[in-house]
Amino acid sequence: MNHKWNGTLDVTERHLTMAEWNDLIDYKLEHNGSDGGAVINLHRDDTRTFDAICIGGGAGGRFGSAYLRARKGRQLVIDRWPFLGGSCPHQACVPHHLFSEAARELDLMRWFSNKLWFPDFTDKRASILELVKVFLAGRGTAHAFMNWQSKEQLDMEYILNASAFVVDEHTVEVGGERFQAKNIILGTGATTVLPDIPGTDLKGVYDFASLVEELDYEPTRCVIIGGSKVAIEYGSFFQAAGCPTTIVSRSPLMKTASLHHVDEDLRLYVVDGMRKRGMTIFEGAEPVAIQGKTRVEQVIFRDADGVEQCLPCDFVFIGTGERPNSEHYREVLGVAVGGRGEILVNKKMQTNVPNVFAIGDLIGPPMEMFKARKGGMTAARNIMGEPYEFDWQDYPDFLHSTYEVTWVGLSEAEARDRYKNIAIIQMPPKGIRNDEIPLPCAEGSMLYAFMIPELSGFQKAVVDADSRRMLGFHHVGFGAKDAFQYLDHLMRRPGGITVDEMGEMNELFLNPEHFIQLSRLRAGNESLRDL
Ligand SMILES: Cc1cc2nc3c(=O)[nH]c(=O)nc-3n(C[C@H](O)[C@H](O)[C@H](O)COP(=O)(O)OP(=O)(O)OC[C@H]3O[C@@H](n4cnc5c(N)ncnc54)[C@H](O)[C@@H]3O)c2cc1C
Ligand SMILES: NC(=O)c1ccc[n+]([C@@H]2O[C@H](COP(=O)([O-])OP(=O)(O)OC[C@H]3O[C@@H](n4cnc5c(N)ncnc54)[C@H](OP(=O)(O)O)[C@@H]3O)[C@@H](O)[C@H]2O)c1
Repeated sequence: MNHKWNGTLDVTERHLTMAEWNDLIDYKLEHNGSDGGAVINLHRDDTRTFDAICIGGGAGGRFGSAYLRARKGRQLVIDRWPFLGGSCPHQACVPHHLFSEAARELDLMRWFSNKLWFPDFTDKRASILELVKVFLAGRGTAHAFMNWQSKEQLDMEYILNASAFVVDEHTVEVGGERFQAKNIILGTGATTVLPDIPGTDLKGVYDFASLVEELDYEPTRCVIIGGSKVAIEYGSFFQAAGCPTTIVSRSPLMKTASLHHVDEDLRLYVVDGMRKRGMTIFEGAEPVAIQGKTRVEQVIFRDADGVEQCLPCDFVFIGTGERPNSEHYREVLGVAVGGRGEILVNKKMQTNVPNVFAIGDLIGPPMEMFKARKGGMTAARNIMGEPYEFDWQDYPDFLHSTYEVTWVGLSEAEARDRYKNIAIIQMPPKGIRNDEIPLPCAEGSMLYAFMIPELSGFQKAVVDADSRRMLGFHHVGFGAKDAFQYLDHLMRRPGGITVDEMGEMNELFLNPEHFIQLSRLRAGNESLRDL
């Protein structure tokens, strides 16, 4: 085929525009099977051995590469997709955020249908398929930008659209060529684990990746298997779009081991909110089978009482977690792997094999961007001779229902277990029902606060009343996510942050998380008590 992007392309001496990158990536994605030609950006005249080769150019590999270059190291990053950035912009976080923003807009339309200036939306559907197409039409721009930025601004070397194979701890093979490096950084991510039940191969069964790659009809009745972030986020979108959605969850929602520090009051606000919006939720439920002649027709599950139930549907969405893609490295390098396939590393991201590092989803949960990016950076720092440790056990966390749900630090129950005197700053305060008070209200929840107060959100801060240190923050609402990144940092400082220091901060009123003004109301008190 005589197309300008056909075959292997060396772009090292070229400065492609954003439009050209977009076009190239589209072409390569469409023809990957038949063409598969690599995209090469390689400084062949540089005779230095690579300090590291990153296998996988997702969040981990790209950020590790950038840091290595910043420290004047030489790196090569290889990805089997024709772009850098990995699963986040291609199939995971970015579509998730598009769908979650749609869920929030649609939810507002439903609650305010026929009120104020809102049109009648009572029985209206929004097309899931159409939004998937919107995502597909736009996702290449992020890919194009990352290729451009990595080459033109971050001076990285890369080979894209080509799978890499490890030969030994210093040698990687790609497109028939072998490259030597002082170190190898493994960052090839994870893949959905399907539940071990019959019917997962039927037409009409999707996960987050196949949803965007393969959906070709409009779902009208959905069953979700799983009870964590993916289940809640995608389920909330499907329901808000007008596709009646049932969640079949083994653990109570948000009580899975993969989510830590979830406060029970926050959890109940989120789950009750999902039920209020018409979702059906079965907890303590085991999926038994997905059934249908040529495509999905029903899901059979065993409920909490052990009774088998049948849920008719034309769409099944799997949110049962992911397993690291570690098999190749275990076989070839003998890297040590844990029970769920995760490559075991220390806080420098070193595996048991000298000069081999592993990062991101490949080392298991939490499978979050901060961990992938910072893991890449940590490996790079150590490779460049700077001893650096990254502890990812505690971190600020979030998910979306139709709300943005954010939390950091200890839940109330965890704090009561570990400390003698706990004070809670909460809105609505304990003992006041959320339909009795139009608070919290702030950006994003003003309409709810004035017209449907029980929907305006929930927030809680947990304080050690003896040391006055803030131990945890929990929020359901809109627009507080940024604050949680900084709250996490303040809480981790030596000495942390006290309620009095919170009260000294200058708030931008009406700020969504309100913790500053509420802390100030308590700050003058010698002995702290609930607010
Ligand atoms: C639905 C969903 C939504 C999410 N939303 C969020 C969110 O909002 N916020 C958040 O923090 N996290 C979110 N995550 C998690 C986040 O996407 C991951 O933690 C992150 O993308 C992991 O980055 P990584 O670099 O480890 O792996 P990836 O980004 O998956 O990169 C791995 C790369 O390796 C490449 N590769 C694999 N094998 C080879 C090979 N043999 N040769 C060459 N290349 C190879 C792949 O092509 C891929 O580009 C979400 C996850 C899911 C599933
Ligand atoms: N930051 C974000 O907003 C975001 C968004 C989406 C995804 N992610 C990340 O992406 C990863 C995947 O998310 P996820 O929600 O799919 O996975 P997850 O957090 O690992 O949760 C898996 C869910 O599936 C259930 N499950 C697992 N195996 C099952 C089986 N065989 N049968 C029935 N239920 C089963 C689990 O139940 P049990 O509790 O009973 O085990 C749990 O509810 C996570 O690491 C997550 O952090 C992040």
